Amino acid sequence: MKVLVVGNGGREHAIAWALLRSPQVEQVFCTPGNGGTATLSRCQNLPYSVDDFERIGQAVREQGIDLVVVGPEVPLAMGITDYLQAQGAMVFGPTKAGAQIEASKAWAKALMQKAGIPTAKAAVFTQESAAKDYVTAQGAPIVVKADGLAAGKGVIVAETVAQAHQALEAIFAGQFGDAGKFVVIEECLIGQEASVLALTDGITIRPLLPAQDHKRIGEGDTGENTGGMGVYAPAPLVTPELMARIEREVLQPAIATLRSRGIDYRGVLYAGLMIAPTGEFKVLEFNCRFGDPETQAILPLLETPLEELLVACCQQKLGELPPIAWKPGAAACVVAAAKGYPGAYEKGQVITGIESAQASGGCVFHAGTKAGVGSRESGVGKDDIPILTDGGRVLGVTGVGENFEQAIALAYDAIAQIHFDGIYYRRDIGYRIRNS
Ligand code: AMP
Ligand code: GLY
Repeated sequence: MKVLVVGNGGREHAIAWALLRSPQVEQVFCTPGNGGTATLSRCQNLPYSVDDFERIGQAVREQGIDLVVVGPEVPLAMGITDYLQAQGAMVFGPTKAGAQIEASKAWAKALMQKAGIPTAKAAVFTQESAAKDYVTAQGAPIVVKADGLAAGKGVIVAETVAQAHQALEAIFAGQFGDAGKFVVIEECLIGQEASVLALTDGITIRPLLPAQDHKRIGEGDTGENTGGMGVYAPAPLVTPELMARIEREVLQPAIATLRSRGIDYRGVLYAGLMIAPTGEFKVLEFNCRFGDPETQAILPLLETPLEELLVACCQQKLGELPPIAWKPGAAACVVAAAKGYPGAYEKGQVITGIESAQASGGCVFHAGTKAGVGSRESGVGKDDIPILTDGGRVLGVTGVGENFEQAIALAYDAIAQIHFDGIYYRRDIGYRIRNS
């Protein structure tokens, strides 16, 4: 098989890497890919951005691609699946209609309410004054969410009414463009967050191992929100009993309700959950794609060939496959960021030590990197390729071990080999579960 992975993050590097472990996968293309996918053997980057559907479609035909796997939400929400399917391609990832579950928080909230899925109490507004009055009446803390896609920045957990009002003023003044035309205001939930991702073919659902992300930049979960600074799986917080309930009370009703609306949802359905100290849970959000960095901890534990699962989702044959097989043990991924992230940061720093990190047993998944001059694409040997920083979250290193202690130690030993100017990573990934 030839597979095209759309995207350029750590998630896409992990997907490409996992696909290439299968003997059935002959070659992977990544568009636009990153420094990691450029240097994987049997993997080649293409230069098309994720929203350039025409060129991507052309590449699918010219390269004889058998399966397209879409990483990020933006092309899904723009309808890449509909576009490529109309040309006869097999695409893993929901259609534009299905992607609304992530692309519109108001739409997702209405779906949850209709399906009876536990979620925070919420109201939707299109007028600043009515939204402010509602916040004043509800009191703080309270959560303000721009309806549409805002690159992870559209949610404000306001500690005071004044903060919530300020957030509303900014959103209605156009801070997030059209994504802020509707605003969802919801009750503030407390507890621990968990990510439950499931594969689905629109009928059958197969949950993946639950994961726990670390969203804040600072140790002890302090400071600004980020795209995710580290993750581990399987998250012990989500016990098998809880997982069974999430499947029954969240994932199945979501898919059934999508079907009742004529949406045949094939891809990843990702539920972001808040789990209260009592063990009760509510859905914070749905995503229509693999998580980043969750994927970098989940896929290294997958034993079933990834392409078999993805093809079965596309062909609506997931129910015919045996249960997903997992390696025993645990995985932990530590993300290294550029100095200044999630604010302004520099690009173009030389990264060294990637091979030593791999030699010490870590899986290095690139995110914001690019292959410098001397890359394979320009004809110079693979071993001489300089890799440069090219984004805020630069790379993630995953350790796999018999237990969390081993997995975390391995990830930290490996990431300690890696250097670039201004490298920053949290030293406390997995602090909640060390030694379990
Ligand atoms: P979302 O994109 O909706 O998951 O929101 C991003 C982050 O905001 C979540 O991962 C939570 O940390 C936080 N968040 C969202 N909704 C709530 C809520 N109702 N209560 C508390 N925190 C929330
Ligand atoms: N790790 C959070 C996300 O993928 O949305």
